[in-house]
Amino acid sequence: VPRVRKSLMDHERIASYAFAFDIDGVILRGPDIIPEARLALRMLNGHNKYNIRVPYIFITNGGGRSEKARCKDLSQKLGITVTEDQVIQGHTPMKDLVNVYTNVLVVGGVGDTCRKVAQGYGFKNVYIPLDIMKWKPSVTPYYTLSEEEKAVCVDADFSRISIDAILVFADSRNWAADQQIILELLLSKNGVMGTVSETAEEGPGLYFAHSDFVWATDYGLSRYGMGALQVSIAALYQEHTGKELQVTRFGKPQRGTFRFAEKVLSNWRRETLTEHVEQLNLEDEPVESVASETESEEDDDASNSQPLEKDTKLTLELPPASTVYFVGDTPESDIRFANSHDSSWYSILVKTGVYQGKTAPKYTPKKICEDVLDAVKFAIEREH
Ligand code: G3P
Ligand code: MG
Repeated sequence: VPRVRKSLMDHERIASYAFAFDIDGVILRGPDIIPEARLALRMLNGHNKYNIRVPYIFITNGGGRSEKARCKDLSQKLGITVTEDQVIQGHTPMKDLVNVYTNVLVVGGVGDTCRKVAQGYGFKNVYIPLDIMKWKPSVTPYYTLSEEEKAVCVDADFSRISIDAILVFADSRNWAADQQIILELLLSKNGVMGTVSETAEEGPGLYFAHSDFVWATDYGLSRYGMGALQVSIAALYQEHTGKELQVTRFGKPQRGTFRFAEKVLSNWRRETLTEHVEQLNLEDEPVESVASETESEEDDDASNSQPLEKDTKLTLELPPASTVYFVGDTPESDIRFANSHDSSWYSILVKTGVYQGKTAPKYTPKKICEDVLDAVKFAIEREH
């Protein structure tokens, strides 16, 4: 038995299947960790009776901070290392709009955090509603900016700036003010404040990071989310113009987010396998068994072997995950997402968030589990 093969038997192996987790209502409730999540992820990191390591990523509709900050928080709460390559937030795929729009209004989140996130993505001129409120306080007659809010504003003359797109990144902290400003811009001439279009069709494009109507927090009942704000703005727009609001949606269950997620998962699986191969110190060893063993752990037949190049990072070609277990708490976004785009995704609905198990879910999952630990145990057993 070559040393490589022995190493693979001695060490944990890498599964051909993978996991993707929703965060709110599965891993967290508000700021608090759902205790079962810690053990669930420990199991995927190799602490299971099959001694197998299972790659996983997180796909949340949440956001409002950088992917880096989100990972730091998750890592602390879970007691493991979560890297930026493993996390997709609702607004992450909006990076693709960087070269499309010059002046953007980013809505939602605390203070100017979302401005910084958008700048981090590479957007050039990023404004937030607070900037507009500072420019002309009469835009929002019943709201006075605090000193703290004024401190994060940029000074700009919005009668001379054409906002090209409105990007709702995170939940609005001030629905009244944000709606007033979003509606004014939608009805404006080319996104210039203080102007009114005759057709109501000259305003900027409107983008939402997700459309969750409700979401699970540490309060007993679900709270209205970004999707509810969208419903509200659409109703106001319709009342005002008689027309239907045009919105571009990101997040789950949108197909664009699914494609983005598949790319992220595939990269992460490659990364996990490469790291594993490197740990096995293969430099001087034959590596022909590794590829086949990672695809099929039971397969001992050397005739299936594919020789790997020495620089595994560049050459490792992985087939798609055999099954992707997606664990979520919201039927309308999570289960619909996992059921809609690829039959190799296996939807699991847990009862720790929006869905509480009292009625039949609107979108039917392949499996319902109590919590994320239950879901991980079920999937591992199903695979072995
Ligand atoms: O605002 C966040 C919320 O709507 C959902 O987050 O992790 O359940 O997709 P998540
Ligand atoms: Mg959720």
